[in-house]
Amino acid sequence: MNTRSIRFRLTVWYTAVLGFALLAFAAGTWLAMRHSLYAAVDDSLRDRAEGVRRFMYAQIEALSIEEIRDEFKEHSVLGPAGDLFQVCDAKGAWLYRSAALESAQVPILLPKDVSAKPHFENRLIQNTPLRLFSREVVVRGKPYTVQIAAPMHEIDEALEDVRWILLFLAPALLAVASLGGYWLSGRALNPVDAITRAARSINAQSLSHRLEIPKTGDELQRLSETLNEMLDRLEDSFHRVTRFTADASHELRTPVALIRTTSELALRRTRSAEEYETALRQVLSESERTSALIENLLTLARPDSGSESLDKRPLDLLQLLRETASQGETLALGRGIRFAFEADSAPLIILGDGPAVRRLILILLDNAVKYTPEGGEVALRAAGDQGFVRIEVRDTGVGIAQTDLPHIFERFYRADAARSRQSGGAGLGLAIAKWIVEQHGGHIEAESELGRGSTFRVRLLQASSALPTGHPGSAGLST
Ligand SMILES: Nc1ncnc2c1ncn2[C@@H]1O[C@H](COP(=O)(O)OP(=O)(O)OP(=O)(O)O)[C@@H](O)[C@H]1O
Ligand SMILES: [Mg+2]
Repeated sequence: MNTRSIRFRLTVWYTAVLGFALLAFAAGTWLAMRHSLYAAVDDSLRDRAEGVRRFMYAQIEALSIEEIRDEFKEHSVLGPAGDLFQVCDAKGAWLYRSAALESAQVPILLPKDVSAKPHFENRLIQNTPLRLFSREVVVRGKPYTVQIAAPMHEIDEALEDVRWILLFLAPALLAVASLGGYWLSGRALNPVDAITRAARSINAQSLSHRLEIPKTGDELQRLSETLNEMLDRLEDSFHRVTRFTADASHELRTPVALIRTTSELALRRTRSAEEYETALRQVLSESERTSALIENLLTLARPDSGSESLDKRPLDLLQLLRETASQGETLALGRGIRFAFEADSAPLIILGDGPAVRRLILILLDNAVKYTPEGGEVALRAAGDQGFVRIEVRDTGVGIAQTDLPHIFERFYRADAARSRQSGGAGLGLAIAKWIVEQHGGHIEAESELGRGSTFRVRLLQASSALPTGHPGSAGLST
């Protein structure tokens, strides 16, 4: 038996508490019974003493000592406890003394000694336990001591019997109850064993297994449900990590293979300087793409491992937006796309990480330009609105199908894989953008119609106070 198991400890506690309760109950019962039996005996002794007093009051003048003695003898033999009393006067002369008390030499108590308090005492006389009551009786001005005794052996035997019964019964009850308790706690804890076994069988290969949920509505049901929820989350992140790793290696394999074949081909025979230059340019552009991809992968992998957190400070977006807008314009004009930029002239202050927010806007502008054909238009707008800064990137490009829209923020997701590959994307931009927005406690959403264009809206919480003067965040911005 495992002494550290909950089952064992529960049983021990249960037995201990029940043991104390039984002990208290047994002791209480016995004491109450003893008290009530003794009280009954005491009452009857008091009554008999009163009887003696009345008898003396009625007879003491009329009769001689001898006659009184006879009367007493007669009277006492009729009493319920037989001939067990003695009466003496103020000088200690016996009026009557029953044979048993006389032979046991029950000492005299003078009336003046008992008058203060009539009292009861227990005595052993000729091996018989007696209850002795002594009181003063005043008859026609003369004090006497009346002492009356009752044998207690029957009562003591009855009490002894009850004590033995309780002494045997209580441990037997306790033993039965503890066995019952052990069995019951075992039953109650059975599901815990089942949960332990099931949980032990779940590993990386069987992460989709779930614990069986006992429909009991109790703590164990909640425990199983909570464990299952935890498994859901674990499975989810496990799958995400595996998919991310697979996608990442797949994405990296293509450019690396391209670099390799280009180099191998170029080295196969001696070539002209122009041919070498073309090959080297291809290798360079693929290497650049690979670097950018690795950079993106690292950006996403670092927060996954919890090691990256942004450095947020009060930041005026206006200057930052102007700079990114001019970068966006260069991109757009290079591909024959018109570009527009509009922003509130009031300061747009947020608590944010400057480089991250810049990256977020560039990702959106890069997409807008990349997925808009020549002759289209891309617009960047920003405005303050009820405690928020709203940034909008709108284009008149190819648009996104409604079926793709819910997925575009997922890693490696490309709405049209062939088209995107050709335009060079790995499908990481929007995943990074979303992560940045979430780190700022903001919100990003996309709206699009196929063939007509797309709008990406970002909402960031506006910082309530203006920029503190001389703050490093503000100083860095105005460059
Ligand atoms: N403005 C847009 N117009 C049309 N489609 C878009 C637009 N922005 C994103 N998409 C679609 O969403 C997909 C995901 O975009 P995301 O920026 O994450 O990846 P990417 O641009 O393909 O690659 P990367 O940004 O990693 O270079 C894109 O492949 C594209 O299909
Ligand atoms: Mg992109």
